[in-house]
Amino acid sequence: MAQQVRGVIAPGRNEPVRVETVTVPDPGPGEAVVRVQACGVCHTDLHYKQGGINDDFPFLLGHEAAGVVESVGDGTTEVEPGDFVILNWRAVCGQCRACSRGRPWYCFDTHNASRQMTLADSGAPLSPALGIGAFAEKTLVAAGQCTKVDPEASPAVAGLLGCGVMAGIGAAINTGAVGRGDTVAVIGCGGVGDAAVAGARLAGASRIIAVDIEDRKLAMAESMGATHTVNSRTSDPVEAIRELTGGFGADVVIEAVGRPETYEQAFYARDLAGTVVLVGVPTPEMRLELPLLDVFARGGSLKSSWYGDCLPSRDFPMLIDLHQQGRLDLSKFVTERIALDDVEEAFTRMEAGDVLRSVVVF
Ligand code: APR
Ligand code: ZN
Ligand code: ZN
Repeated sequence: MAQQVRGVIAPGRNEPVRVETVTVPDPGPGEAVVRVQACGVCHTDLHYKQGGINDDFPFLLGHEAAGVVESVGDGTTEVEPGDFVILNWRAVCGQCRACSRGRPWYCFDTHNASRQMTLADSGAPLSPALGIGAFAEKTLVAAGQCTKVDPEASPAVAGLLGCGVMAGIGAAINTGAVGRGDTVAVIGCGGVGDAAVAGARLAGASRIIAVDIEDRKLAMAESMGATHTVNSRTSDPVEAIRELTGGFGADVVIEAVGRPETYEQAFYARDLAGTVVLVGVPTPEMRLELPLLDVFARGGSLKSSWYGDCLPSRDFPMLIDLHQQGRLDLSKFVTERIALDDVEEAFTRMEAGDVLRSVVVF
C-alpha cells in the first residue's frame, strides 16, 4: 500500500522550500522503503533549491540520512525490515570495470529506485535529491543505497556519513592515505575540511595545519584536532605551511574550498614528493595556470577525491564503530537538531556560515 508522509519540497528555482504531503509507493524488486530518523542539511540541498544542479523541479530534498528499513521489494537481499542503515547517493553495479577494480565511486552503471515518489495533491513526480530525498518521514531507495551499521549509534550522527563528513574523512584516510607521522595541511575548514582534519587525526598525522580566512572556523578546526592554524587573510599560507613543516611543505595537503587560488596554494604547500587532495568543487569557468616546469619538477601527486573515495560497506560501519568507542567524535559535526518545518531557516544559517550541520531529527 502506498503511504502518505510529510516531506520538504523545493517547488521551483529559488523559491522557498515547503512541507507537503508526499506519496511513497511500495518498494519494487531490489528497493526499500526507509523510515528516516535523521537527515542533515547540506550545501547540495541548497544548490538543488537554487536550480544549480538541474531543472528537474519539484525536488524532494535531503540526502545525509540514516533510518530503519521498513519494507523491501521482492527478491531484495541487501537489507531486511528492521535494519538500521545509512543511505548513500546510488547503488553501484558491482560488475563494471570501475567496480571490479575496486573503485566503485567511479561506477559506470549506478542506479536509484525506479518507482517514483509523487506529490499527493497533484500526483506530480518528485526528483529526490541525490537519489535519496530524505527530508521526509519515509523515502524509497534502491536497496543497494543502504548500508547497515551498529543500531546503537545516534541517527543524527550516522546520517552525516552519507555525504560531507565521509567526503572529508575519506579525503584524508582514503584518497590522501595519510599515514602515522605525516604532516597534513587542510585548506578551508567548513564541514568538509573539518572532517578532513578529524580524518588526519584518526590516521595519526603528526602535524595538522588548518588554513581558513575566518578565525572562528580555525577555532572549530582546532577542536577537531588541528595542531596549528593559519589565517590566510593575514599571512601567506604557503609560507606558513612550509615554516611549520621544517621548510619542506606538508606530506598531504587537502583543498576543501574549490577556488583557483586555494588550488594553487595546495599545489605549492606540499612537500616535493607530497600529495595534493582536491575535495573542493570548482565551477565550470574556473581555470588554474601553473608553470609547467613546476608541474614537472614538483613530483608527488595530485588527486581528486570523490565521496571520500569510500567503500560504504567498509567505511560506514568502521567509522561508526570508532565513534561508538569514543575514538572519533562525530557528534561535534551536529550543531543543532531541528524539525522538518525548519529547513528553510537552516539554509539561512548555513549561508551565514553559522553552523557545521543542522540535522532534521524525526
Ligand atoms: N582560503 C581559505 N579558506 C577559505 C577561502 C580561502 N580563500 N575561501 C573560503 N574559505 C573557507 C570558508 O571560510 C569556509 O570555512 O572555506 C570553508 C568552506 O566551507 P563551507 O562553505 O562550509 O563548505 P563545505 O561544506 O565544507 O564544502 C567545501 O568541498 O565537497 C566540497 O562542494 C564542496 O566545494 C565544497 C567544499
Ligand atoms: Zn559498477
Ligand atoms: Zn551533501
